[in-house]
Amino acid sequence: MTIIAPADAAAIGKAAAILRDGGLVAFPTETVYGLGADATLAWAVARIYDAKDRPSFNPLIAHVADIEAARREAALPELALRLAAAFWPGPLTIVAPLAPGGSICDLARAGLPSVAVRIPAHPAAQALIEALGRPIAAPSANRSGHVSPVTAAHVAEDLAGKVDMILDGGRTPAGLESTIVSFCEASPVLLRPGAAPREAIEKILGEKLSAPARAEILAPGMTPSHYAPAARLRLDAHEINAGEAALDFGGRLATQAGPETLVLDLSPSGDLVEAAANLFAYLREFDARAIANVAVAHVPERGLGEAINDRLRRASARKLD
Ligand code: TXA
Ligand code: MG
Repeated sequence: MTIIAPADAAAIGKAAAILRDGGLVAFPTETVYGLGADATLAWAVARIYDAKDRPSFNPLIAHVADIEAARREAALPELALRLAAAFWPGPLTIVAPLAPGGSICDLARAGLPSVAVRIPAHPAAQALIEALGRPIAAPSANRSGHVSPVTAAHVAEDLAGKVDMILDGGRTPAGLESTIVSFCEASPVLLRPGAAPREAIEKILGEKLSAPARAEILAPGMTPSHYAPAARLRLDAHEINAGEAALDFGGRLATQAGPETLVLDLSPSGDLVEAAANLFAYLREFDARAIANVAVAHVPERGLGEAINDRLRRASARKLD
């Protein structure tokens, strides 16, 4: 059941409670409607990808209340702070290396060592972030492959029954997504043109924005800087070889594991949403334990399984060269 309500104070209070419980709320921003979850809860963020039918885990934008909140998550260099002062609140998203101790879950960042942050200018979005007291991860509130929604009715067409609540704030003023600028390279890169014009940004920066590397255009957020585990992953494993740890799904490999074998099960019950929520954290755990080789159980290619397999394939291909 999806509640659709005008974005007044009572509805925003209810929406914040839904987010706090790990639910999904679509809300207006000044650009387009966002499909929000508490950015610190991997299992809630997993539901975003599920609702959108996303074929891969694109990193999401963390919507924050103020510049202090942005700096708690992202290590913003001087130039980025200058842009923030000029454009926030507003339709500019800044990608920067993670700040130490940041709270955004791995899944919302697609495992990247960077994070995208912005302070939206819409009063309903601001009130919702404030009421939750934590960053809200939100991609545009459309099914994957559809255009971004600028009315609550558009959101309902795509996501009714898949989100817990839609806050109706009328038509979004910009109707175009935010401009994304990355500060992860030597000079600022325009990752996506959007509602904040390039010229205005370059004027504040006092320099031209660079074009993204070709790989970044083909797969934003999936470039060589993308987090890849040090461990070598052997996909679709039916057994655990000597010396391997296991990344299991639905207990498929667990029965053959010796007492010394480390087995992390993405979802013992075979739930793909739970598996997505655990994926990045478990890959990191293998690295933290200095595991070199991991047998990965077959994950079914339905629902979120497609995105999980996409990510697992990328993580394993890297080790073949
Ligand atoms: O206006 C907007 O930006 C809307 C509203 C809801 O805020 N949101 C939006 O989100 O358009 P989405 O998920 O549709 O697009 C976010 C883009 C993706 O292309 C993603 O790859 C990129 O941001 N992105 C997010 N984090 C990134 C990161 N750490 N590195 C590179 N790209 C990143
Ligand atoms: Mg989108």
